[in-house]
Amino acid sequence: MKIAIGNDHAATDLKFTIMEYVKELGHEVINFGTDGYDSCDYPEFGEKVGRAVVSGEADCGILICGTGVGISIAANKVNGVRAAVCSDCATARLVKEHNNANILAFGARIVGSELAKDIVKAYLDAEFQGARHQRRIDMLSEIEKRNV
Ligand code: RB5
Repeated sequence: MKIAIGNDHAATDLKFTIMEYVKELGHEVINFGTDGYDSCDYPEFGEKVGRAVVSGEADCGILICGTGVGISIAANKVNGVRAAVCSDCATARLVKEHNNANILAFGARIVGSELAKDIVKAYLDAEFQGARHQRRIDMLSEIEKRNV
């Protein structure tokens, strides 16, 4: 798969660790930055990854900031994005199985690098279960259509 990845300054080291890990798993990575450590603004990177996923440039995305929250909120402003913040493997599996989350987010100040790798693997290994879950995702799309 092609995986878009983005982060802010709070997560640069963990981003590089996760980039290497997903490459080891056999995936291609598109890095939207930041690669730096100076203070920057997470909305920029959340939006870039969100647009890459929705356009089809990437199959899914990974976003990391201090908590995973700000950058996921930014991505979720892009129509078609379903970004989910996960701090454990069960949630990471379920957001794919039930919510068909197309972006996984987590916090570099919340999870350590080994847990972060396990969370990524749980998410990537899981499959969307469709059926009643698809109906609910269709309802999410309808909400977007009602926005002006
Ligand atoms: C940056 O200090 C921090 O606010 C950001 O990484 C993130 O945690 C916001 O949600």
